[in-house]
Amino acid sequence: MAQFPENFLWGVATASYQIEGAATEDGRGESIWDRFCATPGNVLNGDTGLVACDHYHRYREDVALMRELGVKAYRFSIAWPRILPDGRGQVNPAGLDFYDRLIDALLDAGIEPFVTLYHWDLPQALQDELGGWGSRETSYAFANYTDIVSRRLGNRVQKWITLNEPYVSTFMGHETGVMAPGLKDPRLAWQVSHHLLLGHGLAVPILRANSGPPWFLDPVFKGSYPSDLLTLLGDMAPKTEAGDAGIIAAPLDFLGVNNYYRSIISQGPGGIPDGIKQIRPEGAEFTEMGWEVYPRGLYDLLTRLHQDYSIPQYFITENGAAFNDTVSEDGHVHDPRRVQYLHDYLLQAQAAIVDGVPLAGYFVWSLMDNFEWAFGYTKRFGIVYVDYPTQRRIIKDSGYGYRDTIAANGGNL
Ligand code: FCB
Repeated sequence: MAQFPENFLWGVATASYQIEGAATEDGRGESIWDRFCATPGNVLNGDTGLVACDHYHRYREDVALMRELGVKAYRFSIAWPRILPDGRGQVNPAGLDFYDRLIDALLDAGIEPFVTLYHWDLPQALQDELGGWGSRETSYAFANYTDIVSRRLGNRVQKWITLNEPYVSTFMGHETGVMAPGLKDPRLAWQVSHHLLLGHGLAVPILRANSGPPWFLDPVFKGSYPSDLLTLLGDMAPKTEAGDAGIIAAPLDFLGVNNYYRSIISQGPGGIPDGIKQIRPEGAEFTEMGWEVYPRGLYDLLTRLHQDYSIPQYFITENGAAFNDTVSEDGHVHDPRRVQYLHDYLLQAQAAIVDGVPLAGYFVWSLMDNFEWAFGYTKRFGIVYVDYPTQRRIIKDSGYGYRDTIAANGGNL
């Protein structure tokens, strides 16, 4: 039986493009995900984030849902193109107003906002005019956007997250091309990774001033790229400038860890990793994403991170699973596999705490079913079901289970 610390922060997570909708309203500019979705063949069924969960209009209802679940924290992201429709230059006050209202509603409900500044929806104008994250100028545009947002919200937001999963936006966006902006250029991808890191490093002191994956960690926490990586990359290594390492390694208060499954890496000649392989171990369980259910991986990851980097604090900023949920005749959504999944992963999180990892909170991905990137609306990750035609929300069994776990916070899982 598991005990969590009394002040453990129980949360739920979402991201702007995946839930907001209202993609052309109130002066929001186009994002690379709007453009990507508009290109036939990129997203299953031609789905887009134009309406998504209509959260932009229903945020009060969604905050009320969170309150009903008893969550203590909400991780969401800000849509950069709502704040700066062209990525830089003219600010759109209506965009800032929306997040202002959302944050006030959260605080009124006693829910702490965790704000992600970049969850992949880059303004399309920056892609068109600068080449997106392939350009150093985008790092500086990100710092400027961070400044604008944190000046407005910093009096109420203490927890800022600069980048969501930079590994994924780098390589799936620029090497495999299965995510926006859909490019397939490995050399560019390495350069993008550096500019994301630089943007992160430039943003950190701004956030401090305005408010109270894995190799990505070495530059941030150790101040340099791993030497074996640079050897491996040869002339593919990103171009850097003097001083970048210091900027990127700006001291942080916490690391947000997103974990869903494990990847097995095989060893190539000379001990150099040969590639990441998604093996399907016999007898293992898989989610609708084809991701292996491997709760122990969360414990391994947390303890390894802590051993290698000794970061002051950790939050699990995403963990969850997609299953084939349907509304039963009794009007409920029974999702026993997700109930089990959350239970098993939380036990491992708790074991990591017992073994000394300063893990301070956990955010389920996701509060509600939403637009799952290239899979459109076919994958349901929510602990709340969304009936898209009516936008009706139905708390799933896992949502009630999570509510009970929170209510018993400090009690047994
Ligand atoms: C993560 C993303 C998040 C969501 C989950 C399922 O990689 O950060 O937006 O799509 O996967």
